[in-house]
Amino acid sequence: MANLLFKILEFLADGKFHSGEMMAKHFNVSRVSIWNAIAKAEGVGVKIFSVRGKGYKLQQPISLLNEKIIQNAMGEEGSWFNIKVLDSVESTNSYLSKVASSGYPHASVIAANIQTQGKGRRGRQWQSALGESLTFSFLWRFTHGAAGLSGLSLAVGVALIRALKKINISTALLKWPNDILIFDEGVYKKLAGILIELQGDTDGQSAAIIGIGLNLNISKIQLEKIDQPATDIHNLLSETIDSNFFMAVIIKELAQVLALFETEQFKPFRDEWLSYHAFQDKLINIMLGNSQTITGKAIDISDTGALVVSTDEGPKSFASGEVSIRSAG
Ligand code: BTN
Repeated sequence: MANLLFKILEFLADGKFHSGEMMAKHFNVSRVSIWNAIAKAEGVGVKIFSVRGKGYKLQQPISLLNEKIIQNAMGEEGSWFNIKVLDSVESTNSYLSKVASSGYPHASVIAANIQTQGKGRRGRQWQSALGESLTFSFLWRFTHGAAGLSGLSLAVGVALIRALKKINISTALLKWPNDILIFDEGVYKKLAGILIELQGDTDGQSAAIIGIGLNLNISKIQLEKIDQPATDIHNLLSETIDSNFFMAVIIKELAQVLALFETEQFKPFRDEWLSYHAFQDKLINIMLGNSQTITGKAIDISDTGALVVSTDEGPKSFASGEVSIRSAG
């Protein structure tokens, strides 16, 4: 039945009305089967409107992810990647982590049209709904150990900024270590987040599960669920973006960055990262794991991706922590 629901959603993706009778004929099932499948939509967070005499429709048109379309949009390079799109999954990171530990191939991408329990950094949730954001995870296997991967999440941030530039969004900024922000009407709003989970030895081989959530067109309902100011691609572009094409662009940029990171780590990305640093030379608070908060001016990023803050006690480097701005000016 879940399968039928997704076939129906592909039909309804154009945002127009489609009658139950016509869909029943098309899928060669009874109208009751169509009704039953549609009744399951709310369970995966999808609202389908039904109007007597007209049929069913989604609130707005959506572009569903499709692995073949992504692969084709990548051209020749498409064949270098193992791309899989799931209709619905709890978390693409959790799914990929599980299969990665039993030998899933390098350069794999797991994307989901619906992610029901997306994970954010620091135990938070990542809120998303059908067609409203890109939710996917990328598996990259490194020949060196996890100890050599500091700065990886910052490099991934650079890849995302490059991908955004390719679709004519050049105002995106990075918040250390890796949030993608847009400064809009005096407020920093989150456009995308990155969650990296590592597997393997500190010294031997390792694998990174690189999870990315990127807001495409978030509804008011969803926006209210997010615990911080957020924005989306739809707000930033006058034309609508095809999510399969955009996925293809991101995968290519990511692969390019990861290949260079593999040999040279974060160093070659440092200057570029700094050029997008949202809080460069600004007064910030950095909350450390022990709930201690340090205040100072964000002045630099080290070659390993640590944030350098000028404090009353002199410059200090931080490898992890939660940053917030003290003054946006
Ligand atoms: C953050 O900013 O807190 C990180 C958000 C990362 C969300 C993505 S969505 C795809 C992947 N799967 C998950 O469960 N989380 C990441």
